[in-house]
Amino acid sequence: MRAQDIIAKKRDGFSLSKEEIDFFIQGFTQGEIPDYQAAAWLMAVYLRGMSKEETIHLTKAMARSGRMLDLKGVAPFVVDKHSTGGVGDKTTLVVAPLVSACGVPVGKISGRGLGFSGGTLDKLESFAGFTSQLDGDRFLSNLARYGIVVAGQTEELAPADGVLYALRDVTATVGCVPLIASSIMSKKLASGADGIVLDVKVGRGAFMKSEEEAVRLAQAMVEIGEGVGRRVSAVISDMSQPLGYAVGNALEVREAIDTLKDSGPPDFWEHCLVIATHMLMLTSSYDAEAAQEALRGALRSGRGLEKFKDLVVAQGGDPAPIDDPMLLPQAPLQHPVTAPRAGYIAALDAQKVGMAAMRLGAGRAKKGEPIDHGVGIVLHKKIGDQVEAGEKILTVHAQSKEAAQEAESLLLGAYAWSAEPLEPPPLIHRIIPWSGR
Ligand code: URA
Repeated sequence: MRAQDIIAKKRDGFSLSKEEIDFFIQGFTQGEIPDYQAAAWLMAVYLRGMSKEETIHLTKAMARSGRMLDLKGVAPFVVDKHSTGGVGDKTTLVVAPLVSACGVPVGKISGRGLGFSGGTLDKLESFAGFTSQLDGDRFLSNLARYGIVVAGQTEELAPADGVLYALRDVTATVGCVPLIASSIMSKKLASGADGIVLDVKVGRGAFMKSEEEAVRLAQAMVEIGEGVGRRVSAVISDMSQPLGYAVGNALEVREAIDTLKDSGPPDFWEHCLVIATHMLMLTSSYDAEAAQEALRGALRSGRGLEKFKDLVVAQGGDPAPIDDPMLLPQAPLQHPVTAPRAGYIAALDAQKVGMAAMRLGAGRAKKGEPIDHGVGIVLHKKIGDQVEAGEKILTVHAQSKEAAQEAESLLLGAYAWSAEPLEPPPLIHRIIPWSGR
């Protein structure tokens, strides 16, 4: 087999066989196929697409490029969730402890924030000492002992995805459904969960800007799940405005703690309940009603909050801020921003809010940059809310007055106003349930 023949076959619109895909992925990961051939292949895939079967083969080939965690010895059924990324998305911090508190272990690989989009690991590192750098053995032992683990991607898991993603990033081949779906699902396969709920975000603050694109990606991932014998369902959820009120690492942790204490923002709690319900339903031991009842029970009894403490302690963090959130990192300056006019908020562009948070230091423009855990934005009003001119609409948490003022002008550009009342966008656009097969 020769790499150039496989590139030509895809360039000319033909389907690749399992053997050809395996050959290409193995060859590239082992350094036998050079970057320039992999780049040409990626562009051919980008332009020609891939069938369902090809996408499944690609996912398996990438998953098998490294260690495949076997969770069978740890628990009979482990669940995971994955968000395609958004602004103010601290869902994992709430749903992982709640689902685990219902007796279903959660083993999760999470990512870091990049650009306007936040990352779960950065949020968790608001706890002093918390580490997400767990190797496969520690991932398994934490899962066995605590029933919850949230770790970062390591080089042992799906290394093919790491090298291919880096190349996609610089060859304009990121935005391609089979490549995104196989990239996400290869890591999920390698980390071993039996059931996965995909939270596919749609809107201005998401990777997928239209519902049609989001549904295509969700369907591709659910089909991969079916093809590889994992239970997968997908929730298409709104990211036209930030989720909840807080945007920024420690601020979001605080909102997650409030939510686990049953006093979080209603939209955020509703979102968490939908995701966690589907995680429990994948076990086949719960229908929707039983799942919601169990989750509400775990919330009200405080068992979810205790499980969150377990997670923080198990990964070396100081759990004191869970009882006293004032101990979380805080920015020195709190700068209120007021409404420039009276009316109803018609839009609150999540991407612009995410960019403003990044400029404050909460996120990174390039991989590997340090971040500031204390800074960010707390919204006080959201789409559909009525405000008076001069009423406080948000608070910027910043290191300096200059940074706060820059954020204020970016943030005011995120709003559109209406003189007429309007409905907020739906929180959940669509659900693609596990087929039960
Ligand atoms: N997230 C991933 O893990 N992979 C992609 O290709 C895009 C988003």
